[in-house]
Amino acid sequence: MKILGVLGSPRGGGNSDILLDQALAGAKEMGAKVEKIILSRKKISGCIDCTKCNETGICVIRDDMLEIHKKILKADAIIHSVPLYFWAMTSQMKAYLDRWCAFFDGNWNWHKAYAPKMKGKRIGLMTVCGDPNVHTADPIVHSFRATCKFSGLKLLPVVQASAFGKGEMDKNKKAKKEAYELGRKIATP
Ligand SMILES: Cc1cc2nc3c(=O)[nH]c(=O)nc-3n(C[C@H](O)[C@H](O)[C@H](O)COP(=O)(O)O)c2cc1C
Repeated sequence: MKILGVLGSPRGGGNSDILLDQALAGAKEMGAKVEKIILSRKKISGCIDCTKCNETGICVIRDDMLEIHKKILKADAIIHSVPLYFWAMTSQMKAYLDRWCAFFDGNWNWHKAYAPKMKGKRIGLMTVCGDPNVHTADPIVHSFRATCKFSGLKLLPVVQASAFGKGEMDKNKKAKKEAYELGRKIATP
């Protein structure tokens, strides 16, 4: 199994990074091949709604998302980890998600060539917010859940945790265990 980890925080070694590493370690334990993509180190512009991909399935913007598109297609599962910025996902994660547009035709169906690779693909999500109430990050969950529902992706139970200072998550044994278990589960055939 190939598992892709996608980090939506620009803070390397930060709280969502800690959770992502845990999840990928869990997946690895199950024998999966894992790869981590740090979105803030990539050049990913926002979707410009030019609709060209509706016909071609390929985005006209020549940046790092083209390579990420290929990795998404090849992966058996993708685990996302992202902090809450102003009651929403980070701009890095949003630009990445909007560029999934290239997988769909003009009717928001998977392009024929992609459908067999994408339908039912497992999606993991972990959110981190500074607020002690983990559900403050629910707007991110809503966005991913609705996206998965309309497109037939399989969203696994979401891991949500709170932490504010960089690396504070390291002390949160419960959240780290949940992340690890998500990684194990997503990599279980
Ligand atoms: C620009 C910005 C906006 C933020 N907005 C929120 C917010 O709306 N609600 C919240 O609970 N925490 C908010 N936070 C706190 C982060 O979610 C928190 O520090 C988190 O642990 C960062 O995760 P990271 O270490 O993975 O980057 C914000 C942080 C930044 C930098």
